[in-house]
Amino acid sequence: MKDYEFIKNEVKSLLKQERYIHSLNVEKEAIKLGKKYGEDEFKCKIAGIAHDCVKNFTNDKLYEMAHEYGINIDIIQKYSPQLMHGPVGAAYCKDKFEIDDKDILNAIYYHTTGRGNMSLLEKIIYIADLIEEGRNFQGVNELRKKAYEDIDEAILMSCNLTIEYVLQRRLLIHPLTIELRNTLILEGTNE
Ligand SMILES: [Fe+2]
Ligand SMILES: [Fe+2]
Repeated sequence: MKDYEFIKNEVKSLLKQERYIHSLNVEKEAIKLGKKYGEDEFKCKIAGIAHDCVKNFTNDKLYEMAHEYGINIDIIQKYSPQLMHGPVGAAYCKDKFEIDDKDILNAIYYHTTGRGNMSLLEKIIYIADLIEEGRNFQGVNELRKKAYEDIDEAILMSCNLTIEYVLQRRLLIHPLTIELRNTLILEGTNE
C-alpha cells in the first residue's frame, strides 16, 4: 500500500477544497470513533481520508470508471449516479493507492448506502461521514451524541434521516439502505 502522505496528497489533488476538508474531518472523526469502539486507528485514518476520493469526478467519468473496473451499475445508481462514488472509489483506492485491506475497501464501497451486517470499520466510516465537524443539518447534534453512546442506534437514526431525505425529494431508496435498517432493527429485537 502507498503511504498515508501519498494518499493524502492524491486525495487533495483529486478533490475540490471543500470536499478535501470534509475528508480530513471524516478522518479525524473516524479516529475518534475508532478509539471509542476499539477499531484499528490506522484503518480508520486511511478509510477516512480516502472515502470520497472520486466524489468530484463527473457522472460520465464515474460511469466510465465503473465500466473499466468491471463494477455492475444497478438501476438505482443509474438514476442517482452519485451513488457510484462508493464502489468506484473503492476500486480506485485498490488500483491507485494499492490498498488491499478488504475491510478498508468495504468501508469505502458501502459508505453511502450502508449494507446489512456492516463491520465495525464500515459503521465508523458511515457515521463519521455524517457527523464530522463540518456537517450541519437538522438533527446532527443528536446524531453526534448518539454516535458515541451507541453506534448502531446512531446508524439507525441516520438511515431514517436518509430515507426521509429521499422520500421528500422523490428519489429512489437503495435496497442496501433498507437492508441495513432491517438488520439493525432485527438485531435490536434480540437484545
Ligand atoms: Fe461520500
Ligand atoms: Fe463523505
